[in-house]
Parts: sequence; C-alpha cells; structure tokens
Amino acid sequence: MSTERVALPGLVDPHVHLREPGATQKEDFETGSMAAIAGGFTTVFDMPNNPEPTVSPDALKKKITLTENRIYCDIGFHFGATASGTEYFEKVKDQVFGLKVYMNHTTGTLLMEDSNELQSVFSNWPKEKPIIVHAEGQTLETAINLTRLSERRLHVAHLATGEDLEMVRRAKEEGQPVTCEVTPHHLFLTQVDVDELGPFGIMKPSLKTERDRLALWKGLDMGVIDMIATDHAPHTKEEKSTKKPPFGVPGLETSLPLMLTAVAEGKLTLDRLVELTSSNPRRIFYLSMESETYTEVDLKESYLISSSNLKTKCGWTPFDGRRVTGKVVKVVLRGETVFDGENIIGLPNGKVVYSAE
Ligand code: DOR
Ligand code: ZN
Repeated sequence: MSTERVALPGLVDPHVHLREPGATQKEDFETGSMAAIAGGFTTVFDMPNNPEPTVSPDALKKKITLTENRIYCDIGFHFGATASGTEYFEKVKDQVFGLKVYMNHTTGTLLMEDSNELQSVFSNWPKEKPIIVHAEGQTLETAINLTRLSERRLHVAHLATGEDLEMVRRAKEEGQPVTCEVTPHHLFLTQVDVDELGPFGIMKPSLKTERDRLALWKGLDMGVIDMIATDHAPHTKEEKSTKKPPFGVPGLETSLPLMLTAVAEGKLTLDRLVELTSSNPRRIFYLSMESETYTEVDLKESYLISSSNLKTKCGWTPFDGRRVTGKVVKVVLRGETVFDGENIIGLPNGKVVYSAE
C-alpha cells in the first residue's frame, strides 16, 4: 500500500453543535472534542442553540466552566442573538468569535423574523466581529441588505444552493464584507440520497439538487466560498427514528477524509483545502495559530467510512460505507500527540480560545 504523509496546520471547524448543556444524550464536550480530534480538527467553534441557549453572559460562562479539564481540542464559542439580548453584546464580545442569528427555522428556539428586531441586533453587534446567519433564499437577501445598512460583517453559514452562492458572489463583487461556508454534506450528497438515508439525511438547510451541489464545487474553485464547516449536529439514532426526526447530521470525523478524497481526485488542491480549513477561518474569525499544533494525514490511504468506529456519541454517519482516500494518522496539540490514527491519547488538554480582535 502506498503512503504519502503530510502535516497540515491546526485545522478549524467554525460551526459545530456539541450539545452541552442540555442535550448530552446526543453529544457532550468530551465526546464532541474527541470526534473533532479524530477528524483532524484542533479547534472548533460551538453554536448557541442549546436547550438553554447561549444568549446571556451567565449561559456563556456556564458553557466555559463545563469545558474545564474535559476537552481534547480547543473550543471557541459563538453567542446567540435574541431581541432582548443586545444589552449583553458589549459584555460578551471579547469571549466569542461571532454572533449567530437564526433567520430560518431549525433545531432550537432562536428564530428571529421581526425586521425591527433584526435591525437592532445587527446595529448593536460590534462592527469588527462577524454576524453569522442561518439564512436561505429570501432571508439571505434580507441579511445582506441589513449588512449593507448597518455596515456590519456578515458570514453566511452552510450555504447550500446555487442561487444563494450567486447572492454572496454579487455582494462580494460590490465590496461588501461578506464571507461564507459550505458543509461536506451539501458537497457530497443531494436530495436523491434522502431516499436511502431517510431521517439520517435530514438537516437544515436540506439536501439540494445535483445542480446546486455542482454550483457549490464551482464556488469552491472560483474562491467565492471561504471555508468548510461541518455543522456537526448529532442526534441519537432513537431521536432520528421518531415520527418527527430532528434536523442535523454529524460531520466532524468525515469532513477531512471526504475533502482529501476530492484532493486525490483532482477537484481541489491541498493548498486550497488548507486555506478553507485553517487560514481562512483564522483570518475571518481572528483566531491565532498555536505552536507545534498540526494534523498529519496520509493522502494515499484508502478506507471505508464506518458508523461503528466513531468517537461522536451519536454513533452514526450519513457517509457509512463510503470509500475515501485520505486518512488522519496523527494529531499534535501544543507539542503533544493527542491522536494516533485510531485512539485518543493522553489527557484532555484542550482550552477555551478567544478571538484575537
Ligand atoms: O440541521 C441542522 N441541525 N441545522 C441547524 O442549523 C441546526 C442543527 C442542530 O442544532 O441540530
Ligand atoms: Zn448549525
């Protein structure tokens, strides 16, 4: 078997749901950070849509405290927007990487639709830090308009359609400070896969058409897309098997192998992948580099993704059985080997990270 080992600089996943506090049957900081490390990520940013949402300084403090001596990778946080939460913005801004605004329906209770409230949220958030939106179609147009009016920075989460990509492309062309991310599931799956996956292929934004999927690959190629984010959203198999399955799929342990497979197939270069998973998220969210922190991958090793050997507590993946080329063989965090290609090694020496802005 041929091998080709290369070291990639500490990779960042800017969008995960580690579920703690409040939904630890799905995931917790220990299992979620193990999944991150096994997937090659040394830093992840956790989202605020917990059952007790991260919308106050107290809720944020509680999350930070819960990570103590329990995390294997570094974790940063995003704050959740609510109409009444604007008074907290100044207080929390140095502790988070961005403000998440839910403009479309998804898991949790943070939906915001009132235009006056949205305007107030946008204009109260500090200018230098990104406002991250879950916004699709019409609401994305609204978000881009709000950004223009309030002169804020916008980061579009999990962009999924050709039309939304075109909106972002135009905003960028006009010189607006807009950035965006795509998920591996929108790059590798379409609505056709839902036939086979059933509830395990259901998430927000939903899987789209082959045309949309190809548009996203073009967006990666043209440089319109700034980063890859897993939107790691674990739910238990039992929850997924109910009549009303919750939205979301896990992604931390499959993202890098899938993207490395695209590199092996010549769909993108390794340099571009590093830009998408390390340099761009660091630059856009002001995350500094840790010393002696890297992920070693074997570009040639081919294997089958399996639900049976995952670190994520939910224990399944929509990519079960898929062949990939490119494997995480070692992860080093601040000089210590924390993953050997199979097992997590050593103590949970991850730390909470803060934006350098
Ligand atoms: O599918 C999703 N699941 N999309 C989201 O935006 C939220 C996430 C979750 O928290 O389960
Ligand atoms: Zn999400």
